[in-house]
Amino acid sequence: MTSPVRLSVVIPTFNERLNIGEVLSRLEATLGDAGWEVIVVDDDSPDETASLVREIARTDPRVRCLQRIGRRGLSSACIDGMLASAGPVIAVMDADLQHDESILPKMLAEIELGNADVVVGTRYAIGGSTDGWSRGRAVMSRIATAASRGVLKQHLSDPMSGFFMLRRPVLDATVRDLSGLGFKILLDILTTVTGPLRVTEIPYPFRERVAGESKLDGLVIWEYGMLLAHKKVGRYLPVRFLAFSIVGGLGVLIHMTALALMLKGLHTSFPAAQSIATVIAMTGNFALNNVLTYRDRRLRGWAWLRGLVTFMVACGIGAVANVGVATYLFESRAQWALAGLAGVLVSAVWNYPVTQLYTWRWR
Ligand code: GDD
Ligand code: MN
Repeated sequence: MTSPVRLSVVIPTFNERLNIGEVLSRLEATLGDAGWEVIVVDDDSPDETASLVREIARTDPRVRCLQRIGRRGLSSACIDGMLASAGPVIAVMDADLQHDESILPKMLAEIELGNADVVVGTRYAIGGSTDGWSRGRAVMSRIATAASRGVLKQHLSDPMSGFFMLRRPVLDATVRDLSGLGFKILLDILTTVTGPLRVTEIPYPFRERVAGESKLDGLVIWEYGMLLAHKKVGRYLPVRFLAFSIVGGLGVLIHMTALALMLKGLHTSFPAAQSIATVIAMTGNFALNNVLTYRDRRLRGWAWLRGLVTFMVACGIGAVANVGVATYLFESRAQWALAGLAGVLVSAVWNYPVTQLYTWRWR
């Protein structure tokens, strides 16, 4: 009989085959026989991180692999991993050795002694550091931290941390209301909690990544904006719809630019120019929605092409409805601008759910 689980460690991975073995053996070295389990949540990494984890799990039942297909996202991976775990205390930690696993026992003690509900590994308090960061990344991280003050009740030095531990009841109380968007799972949890919460921070030096590469790219800024928007207006308006509408607005700009170029520059006939501009704008909208609105279900390869076709068919029908409604209103003597806007609204309200169902459907 092994000792009961006191701590569940959730580790999200994407292409971490070179690191995961080392992380697991360091966990063993730090936690020994304290009663722990680890759940690695892998989003079907092309480097087959998942099969390596399963190989390790075969001889170590404390290790499990949760492999997700057709989904991407650090936050949602952490949520799924936490839900698959059993311990009364849960830690979330990266797989790339940047988070210092040696503070886990200290973090656990804080919770087990009843001093805290959440313990955060911080890079920004005395004793914490971010050596080797580019100036750009350091500044970005500071700005994002400052922006979080608008949605955060507690004062934390590092609310963006991806390294933290919590009592299971904190998860139970928030999990149904988490946005699950983007990278910032801790921020998501902290801004969802309603009751009082005791948070302790423990500093650690954020190590440099040695093997593999970071999955953070320019779009994390966008995802972060979506998370903040979800916290501010998510109750009234789904942020995906917001993103879809923003992309739609950009699509109008693309359309008008293409139209102007063809009419003025190439002297194309109006019907031809308008048709080509429509195709360009639709393709642009599809591509933008694919990376911005549906980043977690992003289509690639043949699926991208199939997605484009379903998107065009859906939006084509939306356009017919748009013109129908607008024309009807215009003919019943509504103002031209109002009639036009009503038409646009009809197509947005049609295009959004229909493309969500057919183009970016859950697999
Ligand atoms: N399952 C899954 N799905 N895992 C992912 C995904 C994904 O889409 N994207 C990244 N990961 C995993 C990586 O494999 C790694 O284990 C961990 O999440 C962090 O990803 P990195 O790409 O290494 O992020 P980072 O080092 O730039 O930033 C991390 O540390 C910061 C400081 O604690 C993140 O945890 C940030 O959120 C955090 O602020
Ligand atoms: Mn990292």
